[in-house]
Amino acid sequence: MITNTELEYKGNLYPNRVVDYVRDKDKFYFTSENGVILEITVIQDRTVRFRYATENNFQPDFSYAVDPDAKRGYNHLEILETNTEYIIETAKLQILVDKNTLRNQISDLNGNIINEDELGFHWEENYDYGGNTVKMSKITQPTESFYGMGDKASHSNLKGKRLNNWVMDQYAFGKDQDPLYKAIPFYIGLHSGQAYGIFFDNSFRTQFDFAHERRTTTSFWADGGEMNYYFFYGPEMYKVVRAYSNLTGVPELPPLWALGYHQSKWSYFPESNVKDIAKQFRDLQIPCDAIYLDIDYMDGFRCFTWDKERFPEPKRMIKELSEDGFKTVAMIDPGIKIDKDYWVYQEAMENDYFCKRADGPYMKGKVWPGECHFPDFTNPEVREWWAELYKEFMADIGVHAVWNDMNEPAVMEVPTKTAPLDTRHDYDGYPCSHRKAHNVYGMQMVRATYDGVKKYVYPKRPMVITRAAYAGTQRFSSTWTGDNVATWEHLWIANVQVQRMCMSGYSFVGSDIGGFAEQPSGELFARWIQLGVFHPFCRVHSSGDHGDQEPWSFGAEITQIVKKFIELRYQLLPYLYTMFWRYVREGKPMIQPIVCFDQEDMQTHFRTDEFIFGEQILVCPVQEPNAQGRRMYIPRGNWYSYWDDEVIEGGKEKWVAAELDTMPLFVKEGAIIPKYPIHQYVGEKEIEQLVLEVYFKIGDESSTVYEDAADGYDYENGKFSLRNFKLLGKDDELIIHQFKDGGFETSYSSFVINFHGLPFEIGKIEIDNEKVGVSEVKLKNNRTMQLSKEFTQLRITSK
Ligand code: NOJ
Repeated sequence: MITNTELEYKGNLYPNRVVDYVRDKDKFYFTSENGVILEITVIQDRTVRFRYATENNFQPDFSYAVDPDAKRGYNHLEILETNTEYIIETAKLQILVDKNTLRNQISDLNGNIINEDELGFHWEENYDYGGNTVKMSKITQPTESFYGMGDKASHSNLKGKRLNNWVMDQYAFGKDQDPLYKAIPFYIGLHSGQAYGIFFDNSFRTQFDFAHERRTTTSFWADGGEMNYYFFYGPEMYKVVRAYSNLTGVPELPPLWALGYHQSKWSYFPESNVKDIAKQFRDLQIPCDAIYLDIDYMDGFRCFTWDKERFPEPKRMIKELSEDGFKTVAMIDPGIKIDKDYWVYQEAMENDYFCKRADGPYMKGKVWPGECHFPDFTNPEVREWWAELYKEFMADIGVHAVWNDMNEPAVMEVPTKTAPLDTRHDYDGYPCSHRKAHNVYGMQMVRATYDGVKKYVYPKRPMVITRAAYAGTQRFSSTWTGDNVATWEHLWIANVQVQRMCMSGYSFVGSDIGGFAEQPSGELFARWIQLGVFHPFCRVHSSGDHGDQEPWSFGAEITQIVKKFIELRYQLLPYLYTMFWRYVREGKPMIQPIVCFDQEDMQTHFRTDEFIFGEQILVCPVQEPNAQGRRMYIPRGNWYSYWDDEVIEGGKEKWVAAELDTMPLFVKEGAIIPKYPIHQYVGEKEIEQLVLEVYFKIGDESSTVYEDAADGYDYENGKFSLRNFKLLGKDDELIIHQFKDGGFETSYSSFVINFHGLPFEIGKIEIDNEKVGVSEVKLKNNRTMQLSKEFTQLRITSK
C-alpha cells in the first residue's frame, strides 16, 4: 500500500498519522500529526457527515443546502479501537478510520464494503485566492454505476464521465454539454445490489470524475471551501434519495392547478393576444390551468412594473383570466435596470442592496434592460426586501405565481456569461467572493421570491419556478431545464434530465415542451407532449422567434393527439397529486428511472428511456421520427398495456407498437389508478365521481389516493382524504380493502370501478360482508360498477 507521505508530490498534501481522537456525542474528531481534523457526524443511522479541516482549523459551519428542519437522530452508535483503526458503528453502517492515513471504509453490518477511500482526502493550497483546492478520491467498485447530479444532459448512468457544477445560462445546450443551469453535487453509486449516495456540500465550483480518468477511481474536488460531504446508505436507491431529501428538504404541496397543463411563450402580448390564447383553449376544450407572461409585460424590462400599452389594466386582465380558470404566472429576473427614476433601483441604492466588486464599485452587467445591478440575495436583509416587492404584485394585482429566470445570474456579452469572480457577497454573514456564492445566487433569489409569494398569496399555496438551482432549492421552487432545442435529441435529453433531477431530490421539474429554440414539427411536438404530460411540471414554452407552439399550431391531427394526452393528464391528476404528496412526505422521487424501480435487475442499470411515473405506471416515450413503435425494456413483473389491457410479462425487451396517437404506456398489475373525469382546469366543476381503474392480479398490491381542498392549508389540520387500497386477487375472487384517514370530505360520494383483466365472471358481490345485488352497484359487462366511496371491503367472487 502506498503511504500518504510517499504521495506528497505534485503539490498535493495528505493527512498523516492520527495523534488525537475525541468524541462529542454524535461527533467524532480525529486529528492527524500534520493538522488535519476529520469530523464524522452521525446524522441518522444511514446518514453520516464527513468534514475535514486543515491546519487544525475548521471554517464556519454554514450551509444553504441543508434544511434547517432536517431530521436527525439515530438508534445506535458506538466506537471501537484497534491497533490500526477506529470503527464507528451505527444501526446500519460500520465506518473504519485508518490511523495512519485518515482514510475511511464504509460497509454494511455484514461487512460488505459499500464505499472506500482510495487516496481519501487530500488538498492543494491555493496561493492566488487563499484556502485550498479540496479533493477526495474513492475506489470505484467492480460493476459500479453512478446516477443523479441534477440536470446533466448525459446518459443516465454517469460511469466514465467527468462533470462539473457551475450554474450557467446555456442557451441551446447540447447533449453532454456541461455545466448547465443547476449545481446539485449529489450522486448515487450502485454496485453489488447496494446503493449509497454522496452529497458534496460545497458551493464553489465542484468537479466529479466517475471512473473517467482512471477506471478504478471516483473522485470529487472543489476550488475552495471544505471537503464536506454526506454519505447516505440505501441499500435501495429510493432510500438514498429519501435520506438526501431528509437532509436538504422537500417542497410543500403545491396548489393542484400547478400540476395542470401550462402554456407559455416568449412572449404573449398585448392583453388581446393573451386573451385569444386563453379563448382558444376553452373553445377547443383543451385543458389548461396557467398562462405565462415572459419579460415583455414589463415596462422596459424593469421588474415589478407593467408596460401600460400592452397591459393597461393587469389587475382586471388577471381577474378575467382567472374567471375563465386561468392562473397568470409572471416572470421576474434578478438584474435591476440602472435607472435613477425607477423605484426598485432607488430602494436598492438607498439601502445598499446591490452586489459590489472587490474594490468597491457596484457590479454591473448587461441583461434585457441594458446595464443592471444585481441585488445580493445572499444577504438576509436583501431577501426580506425582495420578498416585500411581491406585495402589490401578488396581493393587489393578483398574479398567481412567479417565474424567476436568468438567476445564475446570466450576464450578456461577457465570455463568462455571469458575474465577475471578485464580486462580493454577504453569504448570510460569512462574506465571500462570487467564487463561493455563484452557485447559490439563483437559489437565494428564488428563496426570497418564495417567501414573498407565499406571504402574499396566503391563504392560498405558493407556486414558484426557477431556472438556476443549488442543492436544496427544491424546498422553495419548481424548475425547468432551461433553453433546450426543438430536436429529437433534445426529447431524449429532456427525458434523461427529468429522471435525473427526480433522483437528485428535485422532483418538481419539467422541460420546455416542444423545445425552446427552433420550430418543432407537429410529430415532434406530439411526441414531446406525450412525454411532458408525465413530467411533474408540464409546460409548453418556446422562444417565440419562430412559428407558434400552441396545441393547435400543427394542424387538426396533431391538435387531437395533443388534446388526448393533456386530457389524460387531467384524468390522472389524483394519481399525480398522490405522487406529489408521497414526495413531500417520504422524499420519494416522483419519477423513477427503472434502475430505481428494480436495481437488482442488472438490465436496468444502463437504460435511459423507460421510467416509472409514480409507483405503478411505466412510461416510455417514442423519441424518433416516423416511428410506428419502439423497442423498450419492460421491468420484471406483469404489466397491463394501458391501451388494450394486454398483459405482458416483464424482464425482457419488447417491441411495442405506438402510432403517433399513442405511446408505450403500462400499468403494474394489481394497481388501482384513480382518475377524475376530464375537466378544463382544476376547480372547473365539482368532481362527481372518482374512477378507480383496478388492474387484477393474483396476489396483493397496495395503492393510495391522497386528496384535499387542492389549495390552502387546511390539509395541515387534518382536512385531507387518504385512501389506502389493498387489492387481493385469487383465481375466483377479488378483495379490495379500503383504509381511510383524514377529515376532508371529497365532493364525490361514489366510485366508479373499472376492472381490468378480471379472470372470472362476477357471480357474487359483498360490500362490508353484506351481499349486494348486481343492480345495486350498476354492474355492467363484468367490467364496471358503481358503489359508495365508504366501503371498507369489497369482495367479488365467481359464485
Ligand atoms: C431565458 C429563459 O430560459 C427563457 O425561458 C425565457 O423565455 C427568456 N429568458 C426570456 O425571458
